[in-house]
Amino acid sequence: MSSNSENPPWHSACGKVILFGEHAVVYGVTAIAGGIPNVMRARVLSSENATTTIAIPKWGVDLTIGNGTSNGQLLENVLLYLTRALHIQNENFHLELDPGIPHASGLGASAAVAVCTIRALAAKFRHELSEAEINQLAFGCEEMAHGSPSGLDNTLATYGGLLSYRKTADGPQRLPVECPNPIPLVIALSGKKGYTAATVKRVAEYRAAEPQKYQKIFQGIAQLSVQALSAIANSDFETLAGLMNRNQILLREMGVSCSEIEQVIDVALSAGAQGAKLTGSGDGGAVIIYAAQHTDSVISALKQAGFESFTAQLGKL
Ligand code: PMV
Repeated sequence: MSSNSENPPWHSACGKVILFGEHAVVYGVTAIAGGIPNVMRARVLSSENATTTIAIPKWGVDLTIGNGTSNGQLLENVLLYLTRALHIQNENFHLELDPGIPHASGLGASAAVAVCTIRALAAKFRHELSEAEINQLAFGCEEMAHGSPSGLDNTLATYGGLLSYRKTADGPQRLPVECPNPIPLVIALSGKKGYTAATVKRVAEYRAAEPQKYQKIFQGIAQLSVQALSAIANSDFETLAGLMNRNQILLREMGVSCSEIEQVIDVALSAGAQGAKLTGSGDGGAVIIYAAQHTDSVISALKQAGFESFTAQLGKL
């Protein structure tokens, strides 16, 4: 529990969407991904009763560190890792998180939790941390959550912006994408949780069974990523929307879409959106939509069909 009189500032972090290249990126294709600003915030209050506690009311999380429940074990382990790294393992405090996105939706919630928690702890215990140090610590948290993360989520959670990302023999290559005007998107939740590791494994199995088919799909996505970079540089969002639709066709052929995602896409396109595709590993999770002047009607059509959505500007610093 925390003191009522305290009102410390909130510290925020970005979520992320993959605009082009999910799955293909695993096989060396360039992906393009952007931060979703301010979708997660955290603050640290003093402890009133010599315990350390974590509350995430919107996710139903209310934990006391060290009370032995397995529920929330990952969160507890991440916090222990951070307090050790920041040399504050003997301090008690109350960590409060306020998420604007759900977890397991391909929107980078776990990395965003890590980044805003690190910022809030550093502020409370007066640690000067550079953005690079925050990013590195968040990568450590992501390793605890996902085993061998690419590093894309924590980078976008820390810095935001728009990046191209490619795995090379010398390690990941991350480059800022030239984006003179932010890309206005609607992000819709399919309502089904997406599980990255399982979907990535399935694609590997499909590819082993039909290598030529998958090589063609990945080559097609590689071409879309190249065209997308110039559409973004020219603020040509209509072309970008068409490329999103073509990426979705290839994701469907890859076998990572699902009926919930297809329904979101149908509703959005029928309400006037120009482009829509799944984002992240698929088989659930979120859909990104370019709706231009039809944004309001797309959001209300989605709502009527039972899908939650929100707007985001990618590439806005
Ligand atoms: O579901 P997410 O947001 O974690 O994205 C996974 C992206 C994949 O390309 C499917 C896997 C990866 O490691 O890049």
